Amino acid sequence: MAWARSSQALTPLRVTTDVVSAGQQTQVQKASFAMSNTEDDKVLVYRGNWNMTDASDMHAKMKLATSEEIWKPGGPVTDWTTDYDIRDEGYVKNPVPIWAEMRDKCPIAHTDRLGGSWNPTRFDDTRELAKMVPELSSRQPLVMPPAPNAPELSRYEQAIAAAPITADPPIQTWTRRMLLPAFAPRAVASYGEYTESLCHELIDEFIERGDCDGAVEYSQQIPPRVIAHLIGVDPGMADQFVHWVNMLLGEGINKPALRMKARDELLGFISGEVQKRMDDPKEDLLTELLFMELDDPEAKITPQVVVGVTNLLIVAGIDTTWSSIGSALWHLGTYPEDRQRLIDQPELLPTAIEEFLRFYAPVTMARVADTDIDYNGVHIKRGDKVLMNFPAACHDPEQFENPDEFIIDRAKNRHIAFGSGIHRCAGSNLARLEMTIAVRVWMERIPEFHIRADEPMKWAGGQVRGPRIMAMSFPAGHKR
Ligand code: HEM
Repeated sequence: MAWARSSQALTPLRVTTDVVSAGQQTQVQKASFAMSNTEDDKVLVYRGNWNMTDASDMHAKMKLATSEEIWKPGGPVTDWTTDYDIRDEGYVKNPVPIWAEMRDKCPIAHTDRLGGSWNPTRFDDTRELAKMVPELSSRQPLVMPPAPNAPELSRYEQAIAAAPITADPPIQTWTRRMLLPAFAPRAVASYGEYTESLCHELIDEFIERGDCDGAVEYSQQIPPRVIAHLIGVDPGMADQFVHWVNMLLGEGINKPALRMKARDELLGFISGEVQKRMDDPKEDLLTELLFMELDDPEAKITPQVVVGVTNLLIVAGIDTTWSSIGSALWHLGTYPEDRQRLIDQPELLPTAIEEFLRFYAPVTMARVADTDIDYNGVHIKRGDKVLMNFPAACHDPEQFENPDEFIIDRAKNRHIAFGSGIHRCAGSNLARLEMTIAVRVWMERIPEFHIRADEPMKWAGGQVRGPRIMAMSFPAGHKR
């Protein structure tokens, strides 16, 4: 696909379409993007039939299940099988015993809270439900409902908002393919050196003090800088990325107005970066995505698609990995026998990383039923939300021996912390690389450390679980 350069200012996420009916089938005749590659300075692209969006509902605005009512606090949970609440403080702090109860009593629980959802806690159910595509759609993959004042989006707009995670096939297929080369093992290995020197620099900042906040000053600092480096934007944006992601998936998850604001700011920033590369291409991933040609007739890579994909890389690549690094350090700072084992046998690190991923699996996603589904005695109605509770699945005793025990050298560990099915994490190689380097460098330089019991500790939960405030102490050391 050839791209004309644009001097037009970009306006994110505004798509207008002219739709005409042709017999039974409605077709999109013309789609115009406020943000697009341009012809003769006119903001108009893709004249003629556009087969990617032939489905009649692709461009019609969709009503979102959202209202002020849905967001009201539901009070304490009295029955986890019929009235669960993923915002519950106890659930955020330690969901493991709650999952065990749910799995025992009602393996696919339901709640009316937050607009209603189903919550499978067994490994096999989660894997089966993750395979149900397109019956279970990814167009709204956040576990929380949309903000009450969220703009109505068409199905196409929802799909590309953070593709491929927000898309179903065929859009999911080609947007995922756009990302695979950058996250293949060889490409990812080339980010190792940068990650390693970053970890050392971060430790240099606090090692002489003998204490630090392991979440804020270390774990949280690594993924945003690696992502910025990878996509080709200023690593100095890292703190801003953390703030936006925290508003989108962390603290802001219960505050819809802040979530919307962060979303608009982040999309505005990415649109600006995309615009810059349309005017002046660079040697970076963002430019590569923008000018990419895929051997797939369905693929329609527009700048707007690139904004969505980049949005996902920032959102999916930061909170998740930061949470996993933080959980690993929390574990080692809380259980000295496992820390000692890693000091004595550093060759255990790869299996330890897999066990950190399984035991503290951070990510829960959601699907929306596009049709009525009868599954294992449960009637899921069209429009119902179904949680993809990958963390609970990772503690299923039918799949893992002693699942609620952390076994640092666990030999059989086919966990699904990275998801399952067509949406399985595209960034898992990078996530493993970052975790491995972050834990290895920490252990080399600060082998003796503990979590301070006299200081507050804060976990985030719901969509992405991990430590957010974590005071740590260790014998003061030296800068490199
Ligand atoms: C420990 C860290 C990470 C964990 C636990 C994790 C987990 C997940 C999970 C569970 C999914 C599946 C979502 C679903 O089924 O709806 C997913 C998808 C995805 N992740 Fe990750 N992730 C991590 C790090 C990363 C990183 C570093 C990147 C890249 C920068 C990344 C990029 C993606 C992408 C692009 C998808 C969407 C794939 C698709 O829809 O086809 N992730 N991740």
